[in-house]
Amino acid sequence: MPYKLLLDCDPGLDDALALLLAHGDPNIELVGVTTVGGNVRLENTTRNALQLREYLGFATVPVSAGAAEPLTRQHRDATHVHGTGGLGSVVLPPATLPVTGIHAADFIINTLKATPGAIHLVATGPLTNIAIALEREPAIARWAASFTIMGGSYTRGNATVAAEFNIWADPEAARIVFDADWQVTMIGLDLTLQAQANGSVVERLTKLGTLADELIVPLATFYFNPKVPDWDGQAVHDVCAVAYVARPDLFLTQPARVDIETRGEFTDGMTVVDFDPPAPNALVATKLDVDGFWAYVETVYARVAAEHS
Ligand code: RIB
Ligand code: CA
Repeated sequence: MPYKLLLDCDPGLDDALALLLAHGDPNIELVGVTTVGGNVRLENTTRNALQLREYLGFATVPVSAGAAEPLTRQHRDATHVHGTGGLGSVVLPPATLPVTGIHAADFIINTLKATPGAIHLVATGPLTNIAIALEREPAIARWAASFTIMGGSYTRGNATVAAEFNIWADPEAARIVFDADWQVTMIGLDLTLQAQANGSVVERLTKLGTLADELIVPLATFYFNPKVPDWDGQAVHDVCAVAYVARPDLFLTQPARVDIETRGEFTDGMTVVDFDPPAPNALVATKLDVDGFWAYVETVYARVAAEHS
């Protein structure tokens, strides 16, 4: 029985690789994609999702655009990492099919309401759409089969010393999401930095033919700089969140209380993680079976690549 998965994302190099995994794994049924302003502006994250949909071949999966701005703050992007268009050096054919025309938050509500308990919700960008959906319909916290994010960190950040980008981009949204009536599985930097596309991974990916040449390798290596000491390769952050749904066996997690700093002068957007809480609200991923992860991901990518050669 496949895992039904709805992905809210901000493509984004690693969001695109996460979409490829969700599309390519026969044990995952991608039931919808929603987009949010994040790595790049909403018009670009949405354009990227629409182009990836047709290029990869999941044209029947609805794409709904959501929030262009954070709940209360100014949009802060990551174009310095993902490039101005959001997919690095990758240029895909223009999309011919449109978005659904309903807001991402309403698409999430309607989709989860239609099949309560059946759909796994995953977010790999700022949590603005999820927060809006919760405010419009708190019951989605019960309707989702599970809820997994790429975001946060219980050690250091990447947007700032203290904060990871997805949380830092909209801390108010993240607070609403972590305080809702569900358990959040937090796949944070402490986990995702174990999933680096290092030299041997990239060498194997390169053998996958056209799809690797046109998409996978350029996405997985765009900002990697081999001259930086102790840096083995680009982390495929968002791929880990999708992988967790289909292959939780590859992850170690711990119950924790996660609170979001929204007023810190130096710690704004920090996920404050207590691993010995009276009342956990999250499962926090700590360890990845790295070899098992890449064996899984590369098998799925090879399956899609065979259709693109
Ligand atoms: O911190 C990494 C996260 O921020 C990933 O989701 C990446 O796509 C960016 O959005
Ligand atoms: Ca992302």
